[in-house]
Amino acid sequence: MSGKVKIAFFDAKDYDIVSFDEANEKAGYKIKYFETKLDEDTVKLAKGYDVVCVFVNDTVNEKVINSLVKKGVKLIALRCAGFNNVDIKHAAGKIGVVRVPAYSPYAVAEHAAALLLTSVRRIHKSYIRTKDFNFSLSNLMGFDLHGKTVGVVGTGKIGRVFIDICRGFGMNVIAYDKFPVKDADYEYVDLKEIWKRSDIISFHCPLTDETYHMVDQKSIKSMKKGVILINTSRGALIDADALLEGIRKRHIGAACLDVYEEEADVFFEDRSGHIFEDDTLARLISMPNVIVTSHQAFLTREALTNIADTTLANIDGYLSTGKSVNEVKP
Ligand code: NAI
Repeated sequence: MSGKVKIAFFDAKDYDIVSFDEANEKAGYKIKYFETKLDEDTVKLAKGYDVVCVFVNDTVNEKVINSLVKKGVKLIALRCAGFNNVDIKHAAGKIGVVRVPAYSPYAVAEHAAALLLTSVRRIHKSYIRTKDFNFSLSNLMGFDLHGKTVGVVGTGKIGRVFIDICRGFGMNVIAYDKFPVKDADYEYVDLKEIWKRSDIISFHCPLTDETYHMVDQKSIKSMKKGVILINTSRGALIDADALLEGIRKRHIGAACLDVYEEEADVFFEDRSGHIFEDDTLARLISMPNVIVTSHQAFLTREALTNIADTTLANIDGYLSTGKSVNEVKP
C-alpha cells in the first residue's frame, strides 16, 4: 500500500530529506518535499495527498484543518513531540493526528546542559576571543554548578534525563510537575518554591493554556536575583518582554533560549542579510548573558533517524488500521 500513499512534507530541510529518504527506502512512500511551511496560504499544495507531514512551526489551525479535510487528506503526521501548533479539538473526528512522542530525550536534555555550561563558563565569549588571538580572561569568571539548586519544570522524558545530568554535576534538584512521578528520588515542590529556591530553572513541560507565560513579570519578581533560565521547551512559556525587562533590571542573571515565542517567522531560516524586524529578539540576542539557538535541541543524528522511522511507522499504522499508538487526541 505504501507505494500508493502520497505524503506532502512541509518545512523540509536538507537534513530531513536525508533522514526520511533513508527511512523510506524500504517503505516506498511517495514523498514530496516542500520548503514552505504549512499555513492557510500554502494548504492548497496538499491537494492530491493522503498525508501532510509537519513540524513545530507549521500552522495547523481550524481553517487549515477544514481545507485539508476538504482535499481528502486523511492524516496530519507531526514529526515532533509538541503539538501546540495543531488545533487538536477541531481535528477530532475529522482527520487523524499522530506525533513522535520521543525521539531522543537525550538530544534535548544534553542541549539544555550545553547551553547552561556555555552560559555559566562564558564559553560563547571566550570562543570569539581566542579566535581573534585575544587571550585575556577579564569578565570571563563563572561559578561552580556543584552545590547549586536547579529547578526542573516538567519531569517527563526530557526533564528526567536533565535531572540525571544535573545530578552528575552535584547539583541539588527540585522539581515541579502537574502530574508528579510516583516514588521519584528527587524533591517535588510547588511552582512558588521553584521560583524562590532555584539558582537555575529549566523548562521541560508542554505549552498549554496553563503554562503559557508561566514566566512573566510577576513570577520573575519572585525568582532569586541572578537566576539562570533555560528554555528548550516552547517559547511561549516565557513572556519575552518580561524576560528582557528582568535582564535589564539585572534580576535575571542569564537566559539560555532554544525557543522563542515568536520564533515561527524567524527560526530555521538564514536572516543574516535582512533588516531584522523583531526588536525584542534582537535586544535579547544583543545581551552578553543571553544565548539563543534556533530550536536546535532535537538536532542529533540519533533523533533524526528516530523521527523518520517513527513518523513512517505512524503513517503506516494509522492508514492500515485507522489507529495509532502515537495518535494525538483532545
Ligand atoms: P513528556 O510528555 O515526556 O513530559 C512533559 C511533562 O510535563 C510531563 O511529565 C507532564 O506531566 C508535565 N506537564 C504537563 N503539564 C504541566 C504543567 N502545567 N506544569 C508542569 N508540568 C506539566 O514530554 P518531553 O518529551 O519530556 O518533552 C517536553 C517538551 O519539550 C515538549 O512538550 C516539547 O514542547 C519540548 N521539546 C523541545 C524540543 C526542542 O528541539 N527544543 C524537542 C522535543 C521536545
